[in-house]
Amino acid sequence: MNFKLSNPTRLYFGDHAMSNLEVELHDATRILLVYGGKSIKKTGLYDNVIGILKNLDKSVYELASVPPNPTLEKVYEGEKICKENNVDYILAVGGGSVIDCAKAVAVAARYEGDIWDVIKHKVPVSKKIPLGTILTNSATSSENNYYSVISNTKTEEKIGWAIWPLNHPEFSIVNPKFMVTVPIEHTVYGIVDIMSHMIENYFHNKDIDSPIIAIQDRHLETMLKYMIELGVQLVNDPTNVELRESIAYIGTQALSTHSRHMLEGDWACHAIEHAISAVYDIPHGGGLAIVIPHWMKHVIHRSPLKFEMFASNVMNLVKGDETDIEFGLRGIMAFIDFLKTIDAPLKLSYYKIDNSRIIDMVEKSLGSQSTIGKFVNLNDADVHDILNACL
Ligand code: NZQ
Ligand code: ZN
Repeated sequence: MNFKLSNPTRLYFGDHAMSNLEVELHDATRILLVYGGKSIKKTGLYDNVIGILKNLDKSVYELASVPPNPTLEKVYEGEKICKENNVDYILAVGGGSVIDCAKAVAVAARYEGDIWDVIKHKVPVSKKIPLGTILTNSATSSENNYYSVISNTKTEEKIGWAIWPLNHPEFSIVNPKFMVTVPIEHTVYGIVDIMSHMIENYFHNKDIDSPIIAIQDRHLETMLKYMIELGVQLVNDPTNVELRESIAYIGTQALSTHSRHMLEGDWACHAIEHAISAVYDIPHGGGLAIVIPHWMKHVIHRSPLKFEMFASNVMNLVKGDETDIEFGLRGIMAFIDFLKTIDAPLKLSYYKIDNSRIIDMVEKSLGSQSTIGKFVNLNDADVHDILNACL
């Protein structure tokens, strides 16, 4: 097995994590603070951060109101502020949307062309403004990875882009206490998104009999099992810091390089969900909760063995007098029961989505490729069937 592995973000985790801000920002003089809607003002985190930055005598500029599913327009707005004010550091305070937007602004500010060309992987870049993050919502792992997802509302595209290692934040502060105010629906979406990243990696195209791959598989199964147990507890007790802490810990790993190196994960569910939210602007975790079970049911017949492992090692089921497929399907049904328990949406009709734009969503799922998915290749007819089942 050959691989390269570097996850260079300095991660400060826990109650005292904020105390590292001063050292991390030592060389920064002109800082762009990036944040979302009103949440950080309501919780007092905004005042806390501004107070620290003023005490450190930094000049502070602001990019406010980054929307969930961050837009290209917001990135342009941030780029303009950086270029006009010679910003030399970016501090993102928020969830995945805020961090993803900040990652794009950081690159755009050091690029003379249109950042959309970089996001669409048309142009290589090697420079950016350094970026630090203070995470307020555990979901994406964006605080600890080199991915960013930006929506172009004009072309109705939602594009995930990745530059390794450039797009890694230099540092991230993850204090689970900042997460107790996350509304219940976004708590549920976060749980689903964290699990989805491990599920995408778990259904990979590598040899499951290889011992080194088995280690990765067992690692993912363990985290998934904990997520099921902790997720159910958290939705019943959303201000429990210990539960937030455990989930934040798994959240930092789920889509980090450590969890996905060696594996070529499937990632078709993400392609389909990004297509749905490109057209309908729905929350990412909500879309995934709908797509994943239908993807599972669609592909189980082509590769039942991994679904047996999922049923026993993740969903804790014991195989009875049943076929492999029946057992695998029972695992999928148990996963759906878990989604019901945490009150995740299970149909696109929950977001009032009908079949009127299903062809557009199929096309956007595939983009320029003829198939998606590494575990099972899906063509346009497969994606159409899956989306149809999601309605
Ligand atoms: O905007 P504010 O007021 O901050 O409110 C947010 C937002 O409404 C709220 N929130 C966050 N922290 C809070 C809080 N409310 C109260 N207290 C807090 N502590 O939660 C809402 C959702 O936030 P958002 O950042 O949109 O959610 P998430 O972290 O799930 O990020 C979603 C975005 O990340 C992309 C998704 O597609 C979506 O655009 N993804 C990014 C990935 C990556 N960079 O690696 C991978 C993922 O697969 C995903 O695609
Ligand atoms: Zn995701």
